[in-house]
Amino acid sequence: MPAYPYETHTYDVVVVGAGGSGLRATLGMAEQGLRTACVTKVFPTRSHTVAAQGGIAASLGNMGPDHWQWHLYDTVKGSDWLGDVDAMEYLAREAPAAVYELEHYGVPFSRTEDGKIYQRPFGGHTTEFGEGPPVQRTAAAADRTGHAILHTLYGQSLKEKAEFYIEYFAIDLIMSDDGTCQGVLAWKLDDGSLHLFVAKMVVLATGGYGRAYFSATSAHTCTGDGNGMVARAGLPLQDMEFVQFHPTGIYGAGCLITEGARGEGGYLTNSEGERFMERYAPTYKDLASRDVVSRCMTIEIREGRGVGPNKDHIHLHLDHLPKEALHLRLPGISESARIFAGVDVTREPIPVLPTVHYNMGGIPTNYWGEVLNADAQNPERIAPGLMAVGEAACASVHGANRLGSNSLIDLVVFGRAAAIRAGKVVDPKTPAPTPNAASVEKALDRFDQLRHAKGTTPTAELRHEMQTTMQTNAAVFRTSEVLSEGVTKMTTVAGKMSDIKVTDRSMIWNSDLMETLELDNLMPNALATIVSAEARKESRGAHAHEDFPDRDDETWRKHTLAWVDGARVGLDYRPVHTNPLLGHNEGGIDLKKIAPKARVY
Ligand code: FUM
Repeated sequence: MPAYPYETHTYDVVVVGAGGSGLRATLGMAEQGLRTACVTKVFPTRSHTVAAQGGIAASLGNMGPDHWQWHLYDTVKGSDWLGDVDAMEYLAREAPAAVYELEHYGVPFSRTEDGKIYQRPFGGHTTEFGEGPPVQRTAAAADRTGHAILHTLYGQSLKEKAEFYIEYFAIDLIMSDDGTCQGVLAWKLDDGSLHLFVAKMVVLATGGYGRAYFSATSAHTCTGDGNGMVARAGLPLQDMEFVQFHPTGIYGAGCLITEGARGEGGYLTNSEGERFMERYAPTYKDLASRDVVSRCMTIEIREGRGVGPNKDHIHLHLDHLPKEALHLRLPGISESARIFAGVDVTREPIPVLPTVHYNMGGIPTNYWGEVLNADAQNPERIAPGLMAVGEAACASVHGANRLGSNSLIDLVVFGRAAAIRAGKVVDPKTPAPTPNAASVEKALDRFDQLRHAKGTTPTAELRHEMQTTMQTNAAVFRTSEVLSEGVTKMTTVAGKMSDIKVTDRSMIWNSDLMETLELDNLMPNALATIVSAEARKESRGAHAHEDFPDRDDETWRKHTLAWVDGARVGLDYRPVHTNPLLGHNEGGIDLKKIAPKARVY
């Protein structure tokens, strides 16, 4: 292997990724005086959080009564009882303060007549522990909430003197022989130089892996890079079988039409003009949880009641809403519908289809963001020096299905939590670790092998094979036959990484090589997803298994752990945390309120 020179940078903390969670973690670290670098493959305000539309959930109670315990209940039920109750309680309790903090940082939230933060209804968010009407809990900046948050957090991070390394692609984690993370090796895309970031704490905030699928609302940058690095470091991924389909991706284009559209009064119809959600979810109708709505839409299409010449999609109506409301509350999606579906939302319905949107699974962490090197015997064992936050992480706050608008709040609550924890465990006075030379060599070696790969399968071709396999074999509904075929196909697809063909050997703006590195990250995500799904013989949240249509709490209320080594996947399980942080007599939730029961909306 040719020697690659690299520049070494030393920090207390290195955050990889500059979306909502990465920026909130970066800001929190820098505010405490920790020397903090944020390494990101795209300019911070182009991170995928910019695409989050509808809003951020918090029981502010600005539009009517609300309580953090109702938010907790909805999140537990939304998760189909797979989420960790301590993490979910932390989210629901900390959410109001986190949103007010954003307001004070400068996020331009939409306002009510009397100047409070505007909140809209979202699917699965209710009052009175699911017994009352839907609640308006989702704080919004029109339908550009993620955009507003991202710009504000980036500005605040610069103010706190966090240092940004922009358009640097993280190649691999640097791990000591005893399993401590010591930093990350990165490739500077615009001049081809390599950089070793040595740190006492590395925080992975690299987002989801929606691009393992053919049609996703996720940006093309959502390639599960942190998950890939973790898998190569020999650490497990958790609950990867749970992939969320958003009910309203634009038919054909896949772009998101926010759930806020239904929150503002939009509704779905089939080819008979029927508001079919009234049949499936009589109480919450179009505002049932996302997994439920996506399944109902899929059933309507399967049973021949889809719309369009091929009866293969569904209509979303906003045309009955006042034009002023659309202009004020939903300007972004009105524009998206015009550009990507050729539809004037004031007059015509939008053609929509369930589209891959979010990964509930990811890098296992506790609710402080510390990565877990867990197995059945050591379910809480921490991987020193490593944290993960945001969609890359699995805290597990969303369990088997995430409620809409619980993602943005997850980003800021757990980004902040990671910073609080790092403030306790990182000592700025201690010297930085000496990076393990063998680990650096291994990372350089992999980079060099991919750069000079002389196989016969072009990256785009293999990526397409992976994406179509995942789209077909790990979809909204799954069967044993389809999943087991998917495992065989994905094993073959992953095996072809050894035959990958890279044509551009340069180091500067080599998009061929970057896409190959991204594919090498997507592959373990896709494999872990299909193998974990094949193994789970029940239906829960986003995992709808037609041969096992019921949830089986006795056998399956547990987290899946998946280790990926090349094309091989090993599985193990760890228990779900069922205990809240606060006892009932300390003002905490009554455990009886969140005991497992049938999940109906
Ligand atoms: O529908 C939306 O606006 C998406 C929100 C979310 O995924 O939380």
